[in-house]
Amino acid sequence: MKIHKVGVIMNGVTGRMGRNQHLERSIKAIQDDGGVKIDEENIIYPDPILVGRNENKLIELGKSASVEKYSTSLDTCLSDPYYKIYFDSQITSMRIESVKKAIAAKKAVYCEKPVADNLQNAMELYRLAKEADIKHGVVQDKLWLPGILKLKSLIDEGYFGKILSIKGEFGYWVFDGRVEPCQRPSWNYRKEDGGGIILDMYPHWHYVIDNLFGDIKALTTVGACHIESRLDEQGKVYRCTADDAAYAIFELDNGSICTFNSSWSVRVRRDDLLTIQVDGTEGSAIAGLRKCWKQSASKTTKAVWNPDGDVADNYFDNWEEVNGAVIYTNAFRAQWEKFLGYCFDANPFPWNFLEGAKGVQLAKLGYESWKKGSRLEIPRLI
Ligand SMILES: NC(=O)c1ccc[n+]([C@@H]2O[C@H](COP(=O)([O-])OP(=O)(O)OC[C@H]3O[C@@H](n4cnc5c(N)ncnc54)[C@H](O)[C@@H]3O)[C@@H](O)[C@H]2O)c1
Repeated sequence: MKIHKVGVIMNGVTGRMGRNQHLERSIKAIQDDGGVKIDEENIIYPDPILVGRNENKLIELGKSASVEKYSTSLDTCLSDPYYKIYFDSQITSMRIESVKKAIAAKKAVYCEKPVADNLQNAMELYRLAKEADIKHGVVQDKLWLPGILKLKSLIDEGYFGKILSIKGEFGYWVFDGRVEPCQRPSWNYRKEDGGGIILDMYPHWHYVIDNLFGDIKALTTVGACHIESRLDEQGKVYRCTADDAAYAIFELDNGSICTFNSSWSVRVRRDDLLTIQVDGTEGSAIAGLRKCWKQSASKTTKAVWNPDGDVADNYFDNWEEVNGAVIYTNAFRAQWEKFLGYCFDANPFPWNFLEGAKGVQLAKLGYESWKKGSRLEIPRLI
């Protein structure tokens, strides 16, 4: 076996996503398993260097994750030919400048979604990456969630017949910091810092719908900033200027209708923090992050409307778990393995900057629809 060590610059990994999902559960987990085997003779072994603004945080992170190399100078790392890959999980508004530098340095670039904070910047990154002829990719982790993979397997086998509607419910209560600390970074609730649930979640809904159900033709959105003030990381009160909930209808070319609710101001009483229910002529299914349940036409509960008595049937009966015993890899790691393989031409990687830009476009149109109070058709990007 030949082991190909590849240097990976990881910028923004002192943050929530970078640290938990990308460094610990992806790159370190891949290292612990000896690398990614791309064929019978070759293994890719990622070798990270941590990059950030705060040296103390990098040292602390390096110790806890057993990564020796760190730097506070992105430019120095980018000028070192050992590092072939640049990864970015900084706050969204900081991404464009760093990614531009990485493209100019001819690195392969992989980054968190949204690929940029607005459509113009997202398309500029795509154009620059194409011109520089570098490999590029955007995180689309939900595609590798076990629940979504199970749902996809039902779609692929034609289980649903004609798909009529898709209902996505995403959200949970994010504390405002007064009683419990806020579980998300404060910039998420400030528009001026790149926050907002539409910009955060519509890129996910775009690739999930596009990869599983079909092209989105039009959308209607009403957003809201339900919680008006929160406490930040220093315990200081700030005014929330960004949307913390969005209520959307996405119409597909093939006639299916998707309704997606996204909210950080909702309490959970459902199977999981994200559920996607699909109703078709021949059957239905509902997927959470890990599990998926299906109900066929022949097992469909006959519902009886009776407000004068307790519910006679348990509507949770007659649902059968899909592939309950199958074990899946962490979704972020699964996509990292594909990106590493792509860098060595071992597999294709269609989840590129253009796909990332389509997610940003959906967010942009979501804001426009909300502002204008109207249904908008989605123009083709190129
Ligand atoms: N794929 C997903 O499911 C998912 C989920 C949450 C967030 N994200 C994305 O990941 C990225 C990071 O989100 P997060 O929740 O980890 O954020 P975070 O605030 O926890 O981390 C942000 C990182 O950016 C760095 N940073 C650089 N410049 C900064 C500045 N001027 N101000 C503040 N931080 C700065 C921070 O040091 C930190 O390392 C965002 O683009 C976000 O949209 C993706």
